[in-house]
Amino acid sequence: MKTRINKAQKQFEKEINSIEDIKLLEELRIEYLGREGIMTKIFDGIPHLSAEQKKIIGKEANKLKNEINQLFQDKQEQLLSEKKSNVQEKFYKSLPGIKPEIGHLHIITQAIREITEIFKPLGFNKVRYPEVDWEYFAFDSLNMPKDHPARDEWETFFVKAPAGKRGKMIITPHTSSGQVREMLKGALPIRMLNISRCGRREMDIGHIPTFYQFEGLLIDKNITIANLKGTLEYFAKNFFGESRKIRLRPYDFRFTEPSFEIDINCGLCLGAGCKFCRGGWVELGGAGMVHPNVLKAGKVDPKKYSGFAFGWGVERTYMMKSGTKLSDIRDLFKNDFRFLTQF
Ligand code: DAH
Repeated sequence: MKTRINKAQKQFEKEINSIEDIKLLEELRIEYLGREGIMTKIFDGIPHLSAEQKKIIGKEANKLKNEINQLFQDKQEQLLSEKKSNVQEKFYKSLPGIKPEIGHLHIITQAIREITEIFKPLGFNKVRYPEVDWEYFAFDSLNMPKDHPARDEWETFFVKAPAGKRGKMIITPHTSSGQVREMLKGALPIRMLNISRCGRREMDIGHIPTFYQFEGLLIDKNITIANLKGTLEYFAKNFFGESRKIRLRPYDFRFTEPSFEIDINCGLCLGAGCKFCRGGWVELGGAGMVHPNVLKAGKVDPKKYSGFAFGWGVERTYMMKSGTKLSDIRDLFKNDFRFLTQF
């Protein structure tokens, strides 16, 4: 019995010295002084001893119990005062707090909002059409019948789904797929701005498999190329700045006649010619006067109505804005914080 008491004493002294945490201290207290604790067991053994032993062992046991209590109290006080001084050390009332970091919109979203705002005063109404659509709206209805070679220019993603009477399902490769959908709503005149995600099987510094386009469509009576040019000039001056100019270069699209590619004078050399643009101009996107076959597909009478359309890449347009210094379109989608926080 005496050795048991000595052992418990040594053990307790060792353990209490290594404790740094108030919770662990409480656990230790229960281990020794609790109802099932080591000391309780020692006291439980005392009644079975001889009268003489009872006296000696009882005294020893009581001495140890008091010692444990004392050490426990001292340790508790020590830990509590340490904790208090730690808190005092770390809390400075007069220091300004750490402001939580606030995020911002992705540049593509910023660009989409800016483009939408610029077209708003002209009455262009923002819409969105399906990103997964039938071939019909992306090609057939746009004057590109089945097997027409012009379709090859759109490196189309096909969706594994049964074909229907409007052809196969695709990820829409351009926002022009919204043109006939808009006409089929049956309300004229039309001033549509369709901004949506598109997909094409291409990837290099100027192309990504998933990107955004904005498509304008205006249909009314007596619409001419002059209206188209005026609208695009208005946009270019508002988006890129007063000093920028655009030009229409004849091109060929199946859904417009005549068709153009729109160039803007280079933002770096303002048209003088530099390493980036070579000839002083940079291509922005396509445009043209809506083809009568497209109007017919949309149930609009080409004898009464005419219109223009244009479709440009959001990312590409944004890259041409002076000062963006974006040299690789793929950076926009890498989600690299070091890049994104610059905007
Ligand atoms: N959809 C064409 C493309 O993705 C761009 C385009 C050209 C849109 C002419 C138009 C247009 O509305 O009239 O390459």
